[in-house]
Amino acid sequence: MQEASNAVALTLKEMSAYAQPGMSTKELDEFGGRLLQQYGAKSAPYETYKFPGYTCISRNNEVCHGVPSKDKILREGDLLNIDVSAELNGFWSDNGGSIIVGQDIHNQTALVEASRNILKKAIYSIKAGSKINDLGGLIEKEAKTQGYRVIKNLGGHGIGRSLHEQPDGVLNYRDRFDQRRFRKNTVVAVETFISTHSSWAIEGGDEFTLIGDKGGFSVQHEHTIVVTDGEPIILTALNGIWD
Ligand code: CO
Ligand code: CO
Repeated sequence: MQEASNAVALTLKEMSAYAQPGMSTKELDEFGGRLLQQYGAKSAPYETYKFPGYTCISRNNEVCHGVPSKDKILREGDLLNIDVSAELNGFWSDNGGSIIVGQDIHNQTALVEASRNILKKAIYSIKAGSKINDLGGLIEKEAKTQGYRVIKNLGGHGIGRSLHEQPDGVLNYRDRFDQRRFRKNTVVAVETFISTHSSWAIEGGDEFTLIGDKGGFSVQHEHTIVVTDGEPIILTALNGIWD
């Protein structure tokens, strides 16, 4: 799990540093695809969903699963989410992060910072036996306190021998019917979906891309972790999203 996690984490980190105004999201994705290959990993979306790209690159109003394209040219101040998931030697790992391309000319830093900090607080609240809906409640409360909403129909998931395992539906709000608890040694991809205006992700015009139902901007940060009796082990720490 650690080797697969290092591959996706370093790919995410290097792609985030490589993104520049004037570059197409396809160029950025192909750079990421080469990195995954160098690390001996296979892109999860490409292998699993026949996704037309190696990584998901979502821009501005897109929430997630954005399709890389030569026609999508990055501009100064774009809000960009890169999500990298892959398989290596039979193990799968998943991580993602939102960044601002070039200078923050649209004042999006507060939104990005909120998501990064909420993910950190959320992850360090998890230990063996803690309730999955308490995590959702924490993310929702923190987002609301800072004036944001959460996307309710997206969330984290167990991961390991495949991209999506139990527990599935690790949501960003408290589902009061969810009685499940995190179990020791479970590997989970925990992800935020924080938005300025939207509460639901809906189809965005192609087969894959999701957008917000009420528009605005949405951000996501994601780590793959191991649940323990104490602090979780952050398998994708090398992505540097908290640095
Ligand atoms: Co992901
Ligand atoms: Co995920």
